[in-house]
Amino acid sequence: MAELPPYFNIDPDQALAELGQAGSTAAFEEIASACGRGRDDLAARGMNEAGAKQLRLFSTWEITKYLIPVAAAHFRRVLKSNPDLPQGKSETEGGAKWFTHEEVLRLRSHFSDEGSKSKEYRPYRPKGQPAKIVAVANFKGGVGKTSTAAHLAMSAALDGYRVLVVDLDSQGSMTSIFGGKVEDEWQTVFPLIARHYAEAAQAENHIRISRGEPPIAIDDTLAEALKISAPDLIQKTHWSNIDLIGAQLNLYWAEFQIPVWRMAARGWKLWDALTDRFEADGILDDYDIIFVDTPPALGYLTINGLAAANILLVPLGASFLEFDSTGRFFDMLSSTFRSIEDSENMAARALGRDSMGFEWDAVRAVITRYDGAQQAEMAALMQAYLGPTLSPHRQDFTALIGQAGESVNGIYEADYRDFNRETYARGRQTFDETYAAFKRLLIGAWRRDEKGLG
Ligand SMILES: Nc1ncnc2c1ncn2[C@@H]1O[C@H](COP(=O)(O)OP(=O)(O)OP(=O)(O)O)[C@@H](O)[C@H]1O
Ligand SMILES: [Mg+2]
Repeated sequence: MAELPPYFNIDPDQALAELGQAGSTAAFEEIASACGRGRDDLAARGMNEAGAKQLRLFSTWEITKYLIPVAAAHFRRVLKSNPDLPQGKSETEGGAKWFTHEEVLRLRSHFSDEGSKSKEYRPYRPKGQPAKIVAVANFKGGVGKTSTAAHLAMSAALDGYRVLVVDLDSQGSMTSIFGGKVEDEWQTVFPLIARHYAEAAQAENHIRISRGEPPIAIDDTLAEALKISAPDLIQKTHWSNIDLIGAQLNLYWAEFQIPVWRMAARGWKLWDALTDRFEADGILDDYDIIFVDTPPALGYLTINGLAAANILLVPLGASFLEFDSTGRFFDMLSSTFRSIEDSENMAARALGRDSMGFEWDAVRAVITRYDGAQQAEMAALMQAYLGPTLSPHRQDFTALIGQAGESVNGIYEADYRDFNRETYARGRQTFDETYAAFKRLLIGAWRRDEKGLG
């Protein structure tokens, strides 16, 4: 007799016996605490004695293949004749030499100073131009926002750029990837937004007081925020040229607080908070690229991140549901930013001021987790409808992501010796190409500014 499907003949008494206790609020607490312990256990496995994350080492093979454009033999000769340069360590007598990431950066600057001028030892960064801010956003969850942002940040760091990563998602995934420690909302972007509001309220109070109106209250939270600037929130990561402003659960509070502030001070341009604070605090000179990871929602934090961005990347998978939902995301973006522009411009007209409009250097949808065998048709259709808005590069699905080990996040942190070489090379290539497609936008945008064509 053919076997019955698994949902037939379930015995009610046995089901009851298996059911266990009822769920409750207290049970949630227990589950959360169990997850927390497991997480700490896993996270600790990739840490050094001081409890910090540690980046793996880089071999001569990897450095000369991927990072510094010199032949391996020449690389070895240069090290030999410059004993002051990092010499690397080998695990076995005469074995391959391995270098820390700091050492790779030192070697890069040596080659850049001494090496052939025709090669690109340092990536393009026009003098005097501010850092570019890149937001990765889509209100659909799980489309690859964090993975894309994290890999781009690591690629850019390997390429020699100075990178700041800003986590606007209270899930804090990006923060975990970069080993950030965030106690509460005071170590997130929250105080920058609070300070921006407090300064707007103070400016408005000058007018109110001169008109004999009651001023907007500056409470303790705001008074505290007025003392905080972006460098106070920036933490180092295990990547020597990637810094982080982290996030954790409490950051979600901003979604409730911001509308309350907006009601109190109608003139507060909340969408300018990050842009203005980064500029005022010198962040745009301290870094080359700032990557902003956003939550799967179009809330106030996301709006702030998007308004601050020069380049907007919208990851999506090549499936009907993700295409459909991404279309609606663009619809929401359009109505959200349109309504801000309309109300600002109404006020501007009344005061005889210039009108405003949001502008981005580039907006690109990016196909992520692409499976060429199954999704070619869907991707071609999306390409046909989205045209140049869809990046021609498709980021392949790769088993290397999320499976490289407890504390290792993605391809650039993985040791290639843990994988089949071919799997590694293919996985790495798709993310190198994701970065190359992004870097084209970055360089094009900087060039446009440099030539004054913006
Ligand atoms: N190119 C890829 N190949 C294989 N798996 C991938 C790839 N990109 C992302 N993933 C996996 O897809 C899942 C979702 O990715 P990710 O967390 O980056 O999405 P997200 O958009 O940031 O999610 P959220 O909306 O929750 O913030 C993760 O398990 C990640 O490891
Ligand atoms: Mg995410």
